[in-house]
Amino acid sequence: MSELIKKLNWRYATKRMNGQAIPQEKLDNILEAIKLAPSSVGLQPYNVIVVEDKELKDKIFSEAAPRQLQIPDASHLLVFAAWEKLTSQHVDDFIQLIASTRNVSLESLAGYHSSINGGILSRSEEVNFDWAARQAYIALGHGLVAAATEEVDATPMEGFDAAKLDEILGLQEKGLRSVVILTLGYRDHEKDPLANAKKVRRAHEELFISI
Ligand SMILES: Cc1cc2nc3c(=O)[nH]c(=O)nc-3n(C[C@H](O)[C@H](O)[C@H](O)COP(=O)(O)O)c2cc1C
Repeated sequence: MSELIKKLNWRYATKRMNGQAIPQEKLDNILEAIKLAPSSVGLQPYNVIVVEDKELKDKIFSEAAPRQLQIPDASHLLVFAAWEKLTSQHVDDFIQLIASTRNVSLESLAGYHSSINGGILSRSEEVNFDWAARQAYIALGHGLVAAATEEVDATPMEGFDAAKLDEILGLQEKGLRSVVILTLGYRDHEKDPLANAKKVRRAHEELFISI
C-alpha cells in the first residue's frame, strides 16, 4: 500500500477536534496545495477565507453551523467561496497574469482571451456561479488530500447556513458566496464517536466500471 493510500485511510471526516493549533508550516502546505488545484481554463473563480480567530469561529458555530461540533475546537476553518458573478475584468486579469508569469505578449494570448470570453461570459450568472462552485470543490479535494498527507485532521462541511456565514464574513461585499467549509485541526480521540470507526466505501467492482 502506498504512503498516500495509508494517509487516506488514516483520514476521516472528524466530528470532534481537540483545540490544538496546527503548525504554520502545515497550514502553509495545505494552502499551497489548494492554490495548486487545477480549475477550468485556469481561472480559479473562487477565494478561500482562512479563519483562525477563536471568537469568529465561535460566532460561525453558534449562528451559521450549530450542528457542526467540530468548529469550536478546530484550529482553522477554510471557507471556500465562489465568485458570485464572472466579469470581463476577471478574464482580463487572468490573461494579464498568464502574460506576466510566462513572459509572453498579450497579443499572443488574444485567441485564448476571446475563447474564454466567448465560452464563459456568454453564460448566465447562475450557470457561472455553479461552475465556479464546482471549481472550488476541486480545490477542496486538494485541501483534503494535503491535510491527510500532513497528518492534520479535516472535515469537509456543507451543513451550514451559507447566507448567514456570508453575512458574518462580509462575503457579499466581496462578490463571493460560500459553498463549502474545510475544518482543520486534530481529532479528539475520546469525544469523537467516529475516531476508530471503519471506513465505509462501495466495493471496487461496484464503483469502477471497466469497459
Ligand atoms: C461536500 C461534502 C460535504 C460534507 N458535509 C458534512 C457536514 O456538513 N458535516 C459533517 O460532519 N460531515 C460532512 N461531510 C463528511 C462526509 O459525511 C464524509 O466525508 C463521508 O461520510 C465519508 O466519510 P470519511 O470522510 O470519514 O471517510 C461532508 C463531505 C463532503 C465531501
